[in-house]
Amino acid sequence: MSNVDERRQERARQFARLTETGKDTDMGKLLRQFWHPIELSANIDVNAAIPVKVLGEELTLYRGASGALHLVGGRCAHRRTLLHTGWVVGEEIRCIYHGWQFDADGACVKRPAENDTGMPRTKIAGYPVKEYQGLVFAYLGEGEAPEFELPRKLLTEREGALVANGMERWDNNWFQQVENSLDAVHVSFVHMALTVGPFGQAVTAAIPELSYEETDAGIRQTAKRAENNIRQSDWTFPNNNHITVPGLTPEDPWIDTFVWMTPNDDLNTTRFMIYCMPPGASEASKLRFQSYFAKYGKYDPAEHHDELFSSRTWKNPEDTYVGLTAAQDYLSIRGQERLTKREDEILGKSDLGIVTLRKLFWRELDLVRDGQATKGWKKLPTPLELPRQPGAQAAA
Ligand code: FES
Ligand SMILES: [Fe+2]
Repeated sequence: MSNVDERRQERARQFARLTETGKDTDMGKLLRQFWHPIELSANIDVNAAIPVKVLGEELTLYRGASGALHLVGGRCAHRRTLLHTGWVVGEEIRCIYHGWQFDADGACVKRPAENDTGMPRTKIAGYPVKEYQGLVFAYLGEGEAPEFELPRKLLTEREGALVANGMERWDNNWFQQVENSLDAVHVSFVHMALTVGPFGQAVTAAIPELSYEETDAGIRQTAKRAENNIRQSDWTFPNNNHITVPGLTPEDPWIDTFVWMTPNDDLNTTRFMIYCMPPGASEASKLRFQSYFAKYGKYDPAEHHDELFSSRTWKNPEDTYVGLTAAQDYLSIRGQERLTKREDEILGKSDLGIVTLRKLFWRELDLVRDGQATKGWKKLPTPLELPRQPGAQAAA
């Protein structure tokens, strides 16, 4: 093999450390130190069970008779059929096939055909869950779950704030999506594609000056396009981004958007969103926000893959807000393939955010590999006040 090929292979190995999230990988171990959103609260009724896949692990999410949520392994310990096809019994779940029953920790507590109360030590996975602002979070790590602090978004907890949710299931690797959060330059191009919506209009096509600062929680990104056009975002380790986007009309306040990118496996990622209208908005603004999300909040660009890639036209002219922005991002990020070949990239200085992000992850992954403690990421005591640009919006 030539030296060039060897170097390319070594690069590919380094990049695989960023993209592979299975239980035995360094990234899999690192991500399992954090709470991740895994489903929308509204998607799971009392006494119902659904399958979910997180970090390559098949799981069963069910809501018991009390209304509490539980997360256990995806398959029965007996002969491995899918547990969500069975019955929720109180706070336990019973397998469809031969009735083995499991409690919320995944312990087998009943085997009707054996006429016993389960086998001691027979246990499937069982993980803690937590509902927060319309999302279901889970901790898939070992031992005690960390306090539910890092994922909290204090701006959404303000009295009078209005919250809506979204969920999109993209068919590509999670790390491409995280990288996009730290790529401020893309906004000047991607969000001008198909048609230019309020987001693209507000940001403009100007090329920004970039700076990145590591915080206690993640990375703060600043992109300066003009003295009156400075855009910042607040990224929380390991997979959440906070940005502000224009409101639905120039009369509406800017909206805080929080996006998590949770790997289902290494080729599929679910994006979970909290959209938050700040307190003090007019009744008309609140109504617009609510009716917009009721009508368009479920748009998922991955369901329009062929249409977006073949026609490259935007077929929902009345939805130039979230749906258009998601479609624009999907075109570029999914266009990189499901798992992009980073070993064949050519980066420039405008990719500073990508480089910063990768270095930060490699630093943490080395600590995991060496069995050392990783950085104790902490929620910022006060949310970063991200600039809003009513002037830019009005001029658009
Ligand atoms: S496979 Fe579940 S009880 Fe037999
Ligand atoms: Fe984008």
